[in-house]
Amino acid sequence: MTADTHRSVTHDGPRALAPDEWPLLDRLVSEVFRPEMFHDYPQLFTEANRPNLRVIRDGDRLVTHVGIVTRPATLLGCAVTVAAMGAVATAQEARGRGFGSACVQDAFDHAASRGAHLMYISGGRDLYLRVGCRPVGNDRRYDIVAGSSSAERLRRPNLLVAPASPDDIETLSTIHSTEPVRFVRPREDWVRAMDCTIVMNTPSDFWLVRDRDESIAYLVVHRPDRLRNRPADAPRLLRPVEVGGDREAVAAAIPALLDHYGAQAAEVHVVATDRRLASLLDAVGETYRSEATSGTVRVIDFPGLMERMRPFIGARIGEAEASMLHFEADERPGSARGGFTVRHGSASIRIASHGELSQWLFGAPLTLSGLVTGDSRLAAMLSRALPLPTLWYGINYV
Ligand SMILES: CC(C)(COP(=O)(O)OP(=O)(O)OC[C@H]1O[C@@H](n2cnc3c(N)ncnc32)[C@H](O)[C@@H]1OP(=O)(O)O)[C@@H](O)C(=O)NCCC(=O)NCCS
Repeated sequence: MTADTHRSVTHDGPRALAPDEWPLLDRLVSEVFRPEMFHDYPQLFTEANRPNLRVIRDGDRLVTHVGIVTRPATLLGCAVTVAAMGAVATAQEARGRGFGSACVQDAFDHAASRGAHLMYISGGRDLYLRVGCRPVGNDRRYDIVAGSSSAERLRRPNLLVAPASPDDIETLSTIHSTEPVRFVRPREDWVRAMDCTIVMNTPSDFWLVRDRDESIAYLVVHRPDRLRNRPADAPRLLRPVEVGGDREAVAAAIPALLDHYGAQAAEVHVVATDRRLASLLDAVGETYRSEATSGTVRVIDFPGLMERMRPFIGARIGEAEASMLHFEADERPGSARGGFTVRHGSASIRIASHGELSQWLFGAPLTLSGLVTGDSRLAAMLSRALPLPTLWYGINYV
């Protein structure tokens, strides 16, 4: 079946949500997910973001929704624009008719028209994999057991872990702004997250770590008693979903918060670029397993992305070599089709499709071999600049 074959002839869209269609959207996402969706995803479901809520209408119902939020982001000093996709829903009775696929592609096209370079998708089902979205990143996951000698060695009695309130937003934002790989957030993102307290789909608490009078780090953690999809009798789990600032203070907060919540273990995701937190956890004897970043990622505008990342590439392979690189896509930004070419003088390499491109650029959790064809010396040179850093959603999850 193609995406178009079985679509109803009466449908209207994909297109932006109309001003009078909020109740119809509320009904759709309430039925498919839960009635609190508008409350839980305020970045998405707000009037200013209405053009980014892509819908298909069939008669008096909205049958499909795909929402995106676009934000600037910095990847080790290079400025890119990232779209995050979420709340993807088709009404039960309308599924399997290509509406979801059509709306996802419309969201890619719309993100491209807004200048996005990348799309982060909070899911990994076939709907996304078919169009080149892939799990990427070589992050780490540490499972830290409460009371273990390694957890105890993280403690720093001189540091105070205290709840953060909306009055602390400036402090939180200031600490966040020093992170080398991050979404560049408007203040409103903090305000909304602290107001609804839902971060990465789960009720969360915000904590600051203080050294005397100065706040030097923060953690946002899922409330161990409110984790979704866990049996009531499962061990209590502490899950930090965003950290910022001094990593010794972040690490020290883990045993303190395990105590506070009476949790049995902490599940700590450490992004690949966070060498400091990883080495602190390694140093006390914690072990890890490799983990991809959350969800899946697809490139929207390959030449545009690589232009923005050229300083990063130049730092690795030298400016002279980096300035000779040409990046080409077979198709327009947003398209799911076509391959990609990188040229350097008369040498070139090919990346056959979006799936391979995501994995080549951002590091696949599995093998990287066989993702590119062509000039092996050019491929080897570029591999010195890869992988590019991957973002962690934190409060930008939709
Ligand atoms: C996911 C969802 C939005 C799909 O909507 P839909 O309108 O049925 O989507 P489509 O008809 O385009 O595609 C349905 C399936 O057929 C597949 N498909 C579509 N066209 C295809 C093709 N030409 N060849 C092969 N497979 C195809 C899609 O990949 C998709 O697979 P998946 O359901 O395993 O992901 C819908 O099932 C839903 O609302 N589910 C509940 C909410 C949810 O899980 N949302 C996603 C959160 S990550």
